[in-house]
Parts: sequence; C-alpha cells; structure tokens
Amino acid sequence: MSWIQESKLKWYETLAVNVLKCGSIPKHVAFIMDGNRRFANKSGVKKIEGHSKGFDKLTEVLHWCLLLGVNEVTVYAFSIENFRRSEEEVDQLMSLAREKFKRLLEEKDKLNEHGISIRVIGNIGLLPADLQKLVVESMESTKSNTEAVLNIAFSYTSREEMTHAVREVAWGVQEDLLKIDDITEDLIQKCLYTRHSLQPDLLIRTSGEVRLSDFLLWQTTCCTLYFTPVLWPEFSIWDLCRSILHYQKNLPVLEKALKNSCDGRRQPISENMDRIEKFLSQMEVKESRTRNQILTQA
Ligand code: FPP
Ligand code: MG
Repeated sequence: MSWIQESKLKWYETLAVNVLKCGSIPKHVAFIMDGNRRFANKSGVKKIEGHSKGFDKLTEVLHWCLLLGVNEVTVYAFSIENFRRSEEEVDQLMSLAREKFKRLLEEKDKLNEHGISIRVIGNIGLLPADLQKLVVESMESTKSNTEAVLNIAFSYTSREEMTHAVREVAWGVQEDLLKIDDITEDLIQKCLYTRHSLQPDLLIRTSGEVRLSDFLLWQTTCCTLYFTPVLWPEFSIWDLCRSILHYQKNLPVLEKALKNSCDGRRQPISENMDRIEKFLSQMEVKESRTRNQILTQA
C-alpha cells in the first residue's frame, strides 16, 4: 500500500473533522501502534499479516491527521526491545520495513509534492546494513520538505536515546568543545534524536495497554495521554476524533501544567552560546559523516 492516501472522507466524517477544527488541534501527535498480533490472532492470520495491516492503518491515520491539520506525527514502529522477539518475527518485520522504505523511495516525488519530510529516530546502527541505507536514503530525499513531518521511531527506546545524548555531551567535554557548566536540560534536549521537533501535544496508545513502554519519556512531560482498547489495525477516524476531543477537553489543565511545570523547569541560557553552537554543529558534522558512510557502503 502507498504511503500517501488520497481517498475522500464520507460527508459525515468531513463534518466531524470540520467541527473539531473549530477547536484547538494538536500540532504534533505521537502513536504507540499496539495490538497488531492480537488483531492477527483474532482474525486467524499470521502475525506478519497483523503488522502489515498495521502499516496500512498508519498510512490511513497519516491522511486523517493531514486533513485535521496535525502537521507532525511520531510513530513507535520498532522498539529496541522488539529485537528480543523470535528470530522469525524480527526477520519478517525487517523485511516488511525494507519493502515499505523501498516503496517510499519510489514515491518520493509524491511525498515531495505534499511537502512531507520523513525522519527515522533511533539507533539505526542496530539494523541490517541494507535497511540502514534505505532509511538514510528516505530521510535524505525528503529532508527539505516543511509542510508535514513523519518521525518513525525504529530501533528506538527513550533510555537509549537519553544514553546516546549523554554520550554526545561527554564527547563534547572530552574534545574540549563543552564545559561542565554548559550541561543543562536544554543542551541534553538538543542532543536527542527528536531535537528538530516540537514536543508532542497528544500521545495515543491503542490496544488497552496503559504504559509508555520507553517511548518519548523525555518529550511527554506536558502532553495529553490517550489510551484506547481498540487494536491498532482497527483504529478508526472516530477513534482519532475521540482522542482529539479528549485533548481539547484537557487543554486548560495542560496549559496550566505547561505554565507551572515546564516553564519553571527551563534552564538559564548558558553565557557562552557560541561554544554550545560550535559543539552542536560539530555533532551534526559527525552524524552527517555517519550517514554518508552508510550511503556509500555496498
Ligand atoms: C505492536 O504490536 C506493533 C509493532 C511492534 C510493529 C509495528 C509496525 C508497523 C505498524 C509497521 C510499520 C512499518 C514501517 C516501515 C513504518 P504488537 O506486535 O506488540 O502486537 P500485540 O500487542 O498484539 O502483541
Ligand atoms: Mg504489543
């Protein structure tokens, strides 16, 4: 199935979308797409068929988000913990991802027309080499797009992301690019895989599990959480509308929390911004070198 869905909504779905758009729409929505295997089990099909249906649902949900005016979506597609699943399932998930990223590259003109940028967040070094290359190619070929962003957390956990950020900072200190006093929450945030994104406003988890499973722990301190028992492949536009309604109802509480908590926690800006900027640009150079190495490997 194509990454870009263009099917029209039914008139009553359009009505619901337009009513919701009279209120505040979250700019950034994150999804924990859970319940693919339970869906497969329930439907009497193989696990990988459940994951494949999960991908189809993702493309539908992205279309609904664009219609609603959500311009950034982050999805948990594969956790580092998922490498512990059976070899057969991990291999099948890698093959599914290969197929989908190849399709994405075939459709890059369409993505560019819609202005959609694809970012893969996580430790992609843990993926098979050919998949790493597809992932980097997908990011490179859409990186100039600014209309909408899809962040795919693949080979991701929050703890690994934070550990990686701390290692980057330690490297900066070791290379004499940073001083200990430069280390603030703001600096750590600028070293996370998600540094180019605003924090999510709404996080939705399907399948009835009420936990974050090591997803965006740093980024969700001031975020509305919405848990639904619906299995991901069965998630409908009505479920999405319900979650946005929940967000709108919760907004006054969220705004208060944002003011009291997040603002209060903001760290003073370091006196030496030039030093920090230099460190951040050196870090970007290092990461871009890694991406080029991946692109040039056989
Ligand atoms: C969670 O359901 C889902 C996953 C671990 C994989 C999700 C992957 C996709 C939707 C495909 C995405 C692919 C790309 C390239 C973006 P589960 O397996 O935990 O199911 P369960 O909770 O019922 O056991
Ligand atoms: Mg699960």
